[in-house]
This record gives sequence, C-alpha cells and structure tokens, in this order.
Amino acid sequence: EQSKKIVLVEDAGLPKASKAKIVHLEPLRSQRVRVFGWVHRLRVQKGLIFIVLRDGTGYLQAVLTGTATQTYEALTLGLESTVELVGTLQVVPEGKTAPGGHELAVDYWRLIGGSPGGEDAFSTRVNEHSDPSIQADLRHLVIRALSVKLTPLTTSWRSRPPCLVQTQVEGGATLFKLDYYGQPAFLTQSSQLYLETCLPSLGDVFCVQESFRAENSHTRRHLSEYTHMEAELAFIDFNDLMTHIETIICETVDILLANPATAALIKQLNPTFAAPSRPFLRMSYEDAIVWLTEHGIKRPAEDADEKPILDENGQVLMVDHVVGDDIAEAAERQMTDIIGKPMFLYGFPAELKAFYMKKMPAKDGKTFTESCDLLMPNVGEIVGGSMRIEDMDELVAAYKREGIPVEPYYWFTDQRKYGTCAHGGYGMGIERFLAWLANRYTVRECSLYPRWPGRATP
Ligand code: 4AD
Repeated sequence: EQSKKIVLVEDAGLPKASKAKIVHLEPLRSQRVRVFGWVHRLRVQKGLIFIVLRDGTGYLQAVLTGTATQTYEALTLGLESTVELVGTLQVVPEGKTAPGGHELAVDYWRLIGGSPGGEDAFSTRVNEHSDPSIQADLRHLVIRALSVKLTPLTTSWRSRPPCLVQTQVEGGATLFKLDYYGQPAFLTQSSQLYLETCLPSLGDVFCVQESFRAENSHTRRHLSEYTHMEAELAFIDFNDLMTHIETIICETVDILLANPATAALIKQLNPTFAAPSRPFLRMSYEDAIVWLTEHGIKRPAEDADEKPILDENGQVLMVDHVVGDDIAEAAERQMTDIIGKPMFLYGFPAELKAFYMKKMPAKDGKTFTESCDLLMPNVGEIVGGSMRIEDMDELVAAYKREGIPVEPYYWFTDQRKYGTCAHGGYGMGIERFLAWLANRYTVRECSLYPRWPGRATP
C-alpha cells in the first residue's frame, strides 16, 4: 500500500538524456541516456535492484537505488517486462565486469508493459516444459531466451519468417488456402506478425520474403506472388515511422544513384528520374477526401452488394467521396499523378483497415488509425505501414470485432502479455518500388516470372 503512493518523477533539472539503442551507448559514457528494452535478468538486494536490460542490439546492466527501488512497479517487476531506464552511463570499476564495460546509474525509470508471475510467468512457461512439441508451440517465447545465440545465426544466413502459416494478416478475402496435412493453412500475406514477435530478441528487424495475395484484380500493380520487404521497429511513435520509411526510400535511391552501374540503368529506363526531396508531403485521409472532391475526382457508386450502380444511360454512376469511403486505386492514382511527387496518406478509418492497427483518439464519433500508405506518381501505393495495437485486451477485442478466431493468434497476443511496447512497421512491394524507379507501366515487368490471377505458368 505504501509503495503505491511512491511516484517517481524525472528531474527536469538534470541534463537532457539522449535516446539510444544499447549497441550505440559507448560514445555516450558519462552522459545521461534513455534506453528502452526488456528485463532480461533481475536481482533484488536490500535497497538495490540490478537489471540486465535487453533490446535486441545488446545487454545493459542497470542499477536502481533509493526511491527508484521502492515504487509499486519496482516491487512487482518481473522478467520480460518492458521498461524505460534513464540515468548516467558509468564505466564499471576495475575488476568488475558488465556487458559493454559500462553500467547505467538510473535516476528515473518507468514500467511500460508488465509480465505475469506465477504459473504464467515467462520463465515457468519457457523452462518447465521440455516436451519438444510444447517448446515448438512456445517458439515465440523461446526465441527471446535464445536471443544471444539467435542474433548471429539469423543475421548471418538471413533466416526468414515462414511462408506456410495458419493466421491471416490482411483479411480473409485475399488468402490462398491449402490443405496442410489435413489442417487448413495459408500462404503468407505478410510476415508482419512474425516480425513483431522478433522485436524482443532481435530488436528492430526486417525481412525480404515472398507474400501471396489471392487478389481478384487484374490491375497494373497487383501480383499474386510478390517480393515483400517488411520491417518492424520497437519503441517508436507514428511520426518516427513515417520519417523512417522516407529515409529508407531516399537512402536506397541515393545508393543506387551513387553506383555507376545502377545509375546508368535507371537513366536508361527512366531518363527523367530525379531523387525525391525530403520531407515527403503528408496528407491525412480526411484532407484527401476534401482534396478529391475539390478536384472532381469521383468514385463509382455501389449498391449494398458492392455492385456498381448505373445511371439512366447505362454508364456507371460516379459520386463524390465522403469520409468512410475507400480511396480506390483509380482515384489514388489520379491524385498522385496530379500531385506528382511522393506523398504519405495517413490516418485511414479503422473499418477500412486491418485488425491490428493502433487507433487515434476518436474524433466526432469516428475512429481513425495510425496507418500510412506511401504513394508514388505512376504507381500509387508502394508502402503500407502502421503502428500496432499495444494493449492485449484491445487486441482481443479487435479479433472479435473482425470475426477472427482468438486461439490461433495466441503467440501474437503473447507479445502484448510479456512486456508490450509501442511499435510499428511497414511493408514495401519491391516490384512496385521498381515500377516507380524504372517508370514501368506494370509491376509484371518487374518480376522474373510474374504471377497474376490465373497465371502460374511457366
Ligand atoms: O498494404 P499491405 O497489404 O500491408 C501489409 O501487408 C502489412 N502487413 C505490411 C506491414 O506493415 N508489415 O502491403 C504492403 C505493400 C503494399 O504497399 C504494396 O507495395 C505491396 O505490399 N503489395 C503488393 N504488391 C504487388 N501485388 C500485390 N497484390 C500486392 N499487395 C500488396
């Protein structure tokens, strides 16, 4: 009871702390730093708490003293919880060892996401079942414990998330279903959910993996199988996410233009190509609806069965967009072509978007998401990304609302149960990126053996 009354506040009079990943701490010795991660080890002594923090880039020993050890969060802290630690980075005295050769003397800390104790405790679940099939079910937790061994292994040969899966990411309508030893399974639509589970062991992650979409659309930019570059980042906010996507695109272009061979190829295929300037335009979904209306860009009217409504001449009836409407490919393309430079569209309505997306605070009874699409002239969307729901109960409610069964997602849900964190990520279709860069009419030209509806030969 007493501990619940002890509240720790960060002393605003102290020098500003710089946010850093553990691997980048060395140059910041003797300074105040701010680190985020998972409680890897925990030792409590009289008046002292020692934490070994893990963020996927390394380990950091931290020491809590005084009131920092007396709060309710301090007394109930468990392994695999997520915390923010702020303090001064000190070289460990001669004769003592710590990862990296330094230690954090914490002056402020905060619990971000707790982790259960008792039966459900991380260590109980991971260590007490030697049965290989239970260990396989718990792979998403086991990889945290393996972190140190996994990092060199997976990065040296670029281990990737699976293609054969039993969960959906982007909606049932585009899933390729197959019979998997008598059980239903799918070809992956996105590696996102798996990347999320890697944050606690590998830190910020990316993969380049095939994705499969049973799209019913014969368009210039849809393939049934495409190369998907996806990334996931921990302890970021929505603004960081968009800045990151912009940086990835611009730095990739810079590298390609700095290389004489690729620069020549781009020049040949797309003679007028110029590297885009930063920052990219950011337009909210609501502003885009206004923009479309002002520019007379309409959408086909549909009946309740999503069939087009015809006018008296038998032509498809075109109507203005209103908030809540999907901005379909044709309208999106017209908008990007008029604007003529890369732009983010962000803040789509929750009902149009995937179940896992983090919501913005509700506005006039409408809920928008922390989601963004990066649109490029000639192609339209080349990247889709979002912040993810952090809270376990909110996620479970989202499965229910979308009619998604909760049980198969236990491993994705556990990510929120054992030390949740603010995180987000994105996926880029490589063929679409190339269609933009090389000014191709269709993504089919950017794939060696393109697959589109009905086409899987040769
Ligand atoms: O917007 P999407 O569906 O987002 C996801 O799959 C997220 N789970 C990604 C993430 O956050 N990790 O797809 C992402 C990108 C699109 O922007 C597009 O470039 C590409 O994947 N894409 C396709 N490319 C070719 N053919 C298709 N049928 C595609 N569907 C998506």
